[in-house]
Amino acid sequence: MIPIARPDIGAEEIAAVTEVLESGMLAQGKRVAALEERWAAEVGVRHAIATSNGTVALMAVFAGLGLEPGDEVITVSHTFAATANAILFTGATPVFVDIEPDTYLIDAKRIEAAITPRTRAIVPVHLFGLVADMDMIQAIADRHGLAVVEDACQAHGAMYRGRKAGGFGHGTFSLYATKNMTTAEGGLITTNDDRLADWLRLYRNQGMRSRYQFEMLGYNFRLTDLAAAIGLAQLDKLERNTARRRAIAAGYDEAFADLPVGTPITPDGRTHVYHQYTLQVGPARDAIVAALRDAGVGADIYYPIPVHRQPYIMERGLHADLPVTDGAAATTLALPMFPGLTDAEQATVIAAVRDAVARFAGTGGSHGAHGTTASAEAEAVAR
Ligand SMILES: Cc1ncc(COP(=O)(O)O)c(C=O)c1O
Repeated sequence: MIPIARPDIGAEEIAAVTEVLESGMLAQGKRVAALEERWAAEVGVRHAIATSNGTVALMAVFAGLGLEPGDEVITVSHTFAATANAILFTGATPVFVDIEPDTYLIDAKRIEAAITPRTRAIVPVHLFGLVADMDMIQAIADRHGLAVVEDACQAHGAMYRGRKAGGFGHGTFSLYATKNMTTAEGGLITTNDDRLADWLRLYRNQGMRSRYQFEMLGYNFRLTDLAAAIGLAQLDKLERNTARRRAIAAGYDEAFADLPVGTPITPDGRTHVYHQYTLQVGPARDAIVAALRDAGVGADIYYPIPVHRQPYIMERGLHADLPVTDGAAATTLALPMFPGLTDAEQATVIAAVRDAVARFAGTGGSHGAHGTTASAEAEAVAR
């Protein structure tokens, strides 16, 4: 099976980890500090704070902003559940707005209608490697005095009008194994707010300013030097790996141009870093995914059940009417996308997609000449 993702771990990471292991200094130390310094420079902000994963990066920022029960945070349901979970863990309430049908990102035009006197923050998710409409989001936030927290967990290095993801409001990144840059597990926060950065550094380390001087209630959200050593090696490769992702995406775009499917769009002024390459294939999606897997192609769905339909969210009365989100969850799929994908593997993926789309696309929808027959076949495969 050609996997959907494969981390790019090589001699550089192995050497970096070995060096840390041999040094005996494993926990948060000089490599974490170096990663933070380099990431802040990379994003173009004053501070980067490393954390043990992206979820706690989000949670720590929300805690630092002082979110509390009764507060509302506007975000999307078309995301990994951690976005909403991090809001919930502060006691605040996620308020879901719908997405744009073509970018799969928060539909900024819908944000103002969701603002109430309890709204404290807007959390755009730069899903799949594309930055949300930050000009409009920032303007709305400024107008209403709201914080902006970017969930850039999937968008390392993505650009919006010359600025990097994570450089607008307070940014949060995941360094999970399959992300564009990884430390196996890890996270990074970016901010220009000196006070928040100081608070976050204390919060992630038991509230300790200096040895056994506990200045506030804190936690252990530290990253290890072992992980940071991997992160530094990954950062060295980020530009090259992003270029490779973009080349793979261009190859897919070209190969699918004549098919009745939607390929990812990149609005003017943005650069996509293709954490995922998402195809819009219509109502035969499940049949197409099944056919791709039969052909040895690890296609996957991000995300099959939107957050607002998860039981623990519905039980909290947080369900919302989000037809575009529901549509994306039902009709899109993601193809193998990682820097190490070989040309031969990509050719296999392309051939399998062309074959599956020819067999199933349009079934239950408007494309294709053999809708009825193929629809029955699609159902059979889907089961
Ligand atoms: C959009 C999004 N938000 C948040 C997270 C949480 O990051 P982590 O898995 O590092 O906790 C992830 C990654 O898994 C993500 O993709």
